[in-house]
Amino acid sequence: MTDFLVHPASAPLRGVVRVPSDKSIGHRAVILGALAEGPCVLRRFSFGEDNVSTLACFGALGVRHEILEEAKGGRGGTIRVHGVGLFGLTAPRDGKPLDCGNSGTTMRLLSGLLAAQNFGSVLVGDASLSKRPMRRVLGPLRDRGAHCRGQQHPTKDDETAPIRIAPLIEGENLGPATLRLKVPSAQVKSAMLLSGLYAHGTTVVEEPTLSRDHTERMLEEAGVPLRRLGSIVMLDPAGWSGKIPAFELEVPGDLSAAAFVIVAGNIVPDSVLRVVDVGVNPTRTGALDVLRAMGGGAQVVPKGERGAEPVGTLEISSGLDAEGEGLTATPIGGELVARGIDEIPVLCVAAALAKGTTVIRDAQELRVKESDRLATMASVLRAFGVTARELPDGLEIDGRPGATLRAATVASEGDHRIAMSAALLALRADGPSRVRDVDCVATSFPGFAKMLCDLGARVEEVPSE
Ligand code: S3P
Repeated sequence: MTDFLVHPASAPLRGVVRVPSDKSIGHRAVILGALAEGPCVLRRFSFGEDNVSTLACFGALGVRHEILEEAKGGRGGTIRVHGVGLFGLTAPRDGKPLDCGNSGTTMRLLSGLLAAQNFGSVLVGDASLSKRPMRRVLGPLRDRGAHCRGQQHPTKDDETAPIRIAPLIEGENLGPATLRLKVPSAQVKSAMLLSGLYAHGTTVVEEPTLSRDHTERMLEEAGVPLRRLGSIVMLDPAGWSGKIPAFELEVPGDLSAAAFVIVAGNIVPDSVLRVVDVGVNPTRTGALDVLRAMGGGAQVVPKGERGAEPVGTLEISSGLDAEGEGLTATPIGGELVARGIDEIPVLCVAAALAKGTTVIRDAQELRVKESDRLATMASVLRAFGVTARELPDGLEIDGRPGATLRAATVASEGDHRIAMSAALLALRADGPSRVRDVDCVATSFPGFAKMLCDLGARVEEVPSE
């Protein structure tokens, strides 16, 4: 195991960087590439562990891929996925379970896709993923006729991995589905749309506010008949050819990874940073809106569309004056949470240094991510000397504008976004801090520590004590 030893920032952060390419888009590009009519080339594909889990699962389902160009630094690499067509997947090799690793997106999206096949499969994950709730996808899939089941959750009325999916038998089909979600979820929505490609009848998903819409954009681009109205999407495969044309895609940089660069730039006085080639899909930009309201954030210079996704360059400067003041607390809730669900931990870092109390609400979903992010973030903040109160669905953080935080030793709880958020808090501490167990960072941001060092910070990767 590895820890980060993070030294306080002694100089402004400066430089131009690329962040790993978008994990959400990467998963979907592999899935649609696998279902396409021929070879698909994915450029700047991130070899973060979550995306690699999806690739490996498709390998076991009979979809070959080649690495045409290895990943270099934050650049990602180029792969060719040999699409087998909508009905070309084959039963998992040697009858083995499909290992989704730490990736909830892999497990939930594949559940939808595999529930529609005429072969059976079993989906498993690591210790953290095996604790996460799965009924949200399995229930609606069963309602449309799928034979899928997880394990009874040890404490809640829910199901967890392993997920066992039995085949649809000869002549059996998935039926129509109408799902009204109480909490927005791109993973549940995407699982329903993927199963809907095979269903007899329409798939309708309505969310309280629109979650990330990469699946919809990619399906539309592939000519799949979708209709969208606000946060309602309808897929009606009647009359559709059932063919997804082979495609090429350059995956944009991941705004969820860029958020760590933005906040680092915002909290270290005098920093000037630029992140090139970042996806700026409006369903993902909640954190940018929050940080701007706080007096920080980034300027987005639009650079056109990549596939069906808008991209831009982010220009970042410190939100602080020479005394380290300048950020102001702002409420975080409602659609801002839906549009920035993965960025709440890093927003807590900005809140820790802002004037006033930041109140985060409507974020109960964070309790069932890679860790209970409300509890873990509260304890990380407290370790650095910041007062944080847990709410059932959020946090209250009393900001310490201009403060030098207390150096700390904290646990990542195996959660990549907690590990990286803690590393940023440590940039503003009064001595070196240790973040324990940071191997998880590779799930979404291989090269994170090196990138911070390239910008002028001092982050050592050391063996765990
Ligand atoms: C994701 C959706 C989100 C997000 C996750 C990636 C996706 O989860 O937290 O990191 O790629 O669809 P939910 O849809 O469960 O909110």
